[in-house]
Amino acid sequence: MTNLFLVSVLSILGMALTSNAATTYTVGDTSGWDISTNLDTWASDKKFQVGDALVFQYSSSHSVSEVTKQNFDSCNTTNVINTYSNGNTTVPLTKPGARYFLCGNKLHCFGGMKLQVNVEGDDQASPTGAPQTQPDSSLPRP
Ligand SMILES: *[C@@H]1O[C@H](CO)[C@@H](O)[C@H](O)[C@H]1NC(C)=O
Ligand SMILES: *[C@@H]1O[C@H](CO)[C@@H](O)[C@H](O)[C@H]1NC(C)=O
Repeated sequence: MTNLFLVSVLSILGMALTSNAATTYTVGDTSGWDISTNLDTWASDKKFQVGDALVFQYSSSHSVSEVTKQNFDSCNTTNVINTYSNGNTTVPLTKPGARYFLCGNKLHCFGGMKLQVNVEGDDQASPTGAPQTQPDSSLPRP
């Protein structure tokens, strides 16, 4: 009985971990899309997949613009792909690849208010990405 229970719990857990269930990420969590949020840190431990969505929540002094990589790097807000300013913006991640977002206020962008997400496809391995290694080699072996 106990073993059966354990096995089913583990298999449910396994399915949950490996399924492609869509995740909705609130950018910056409770801090939101803000100049004070460390967006690099926020994004660094997340794995974005096709079907997921980003929710940007921000005050009226901010906006969200999606731009090209080139314009992202230079905080160029002249030509944007999309721009949003309603304070509560959901952006679905519909295809694999990198997406670039910044605040429409150039100064905020230069201050670090920009976010790159790398969206992974359902059935392809990520082309890049640093492998997460555990520093277990420092542990003494018996
Ligand atoms: C910004 O990008 C546009 C085209 O995307 C370009 O024409 C313009 O020169 C760029 N501005 C700066 C300051 O780089
Ligand atoms: C933001 O929009 C979503 C639906 O798009 C809604 O469920 C949510 O309550 C809204 N949040 C705020 C803070 O307005």
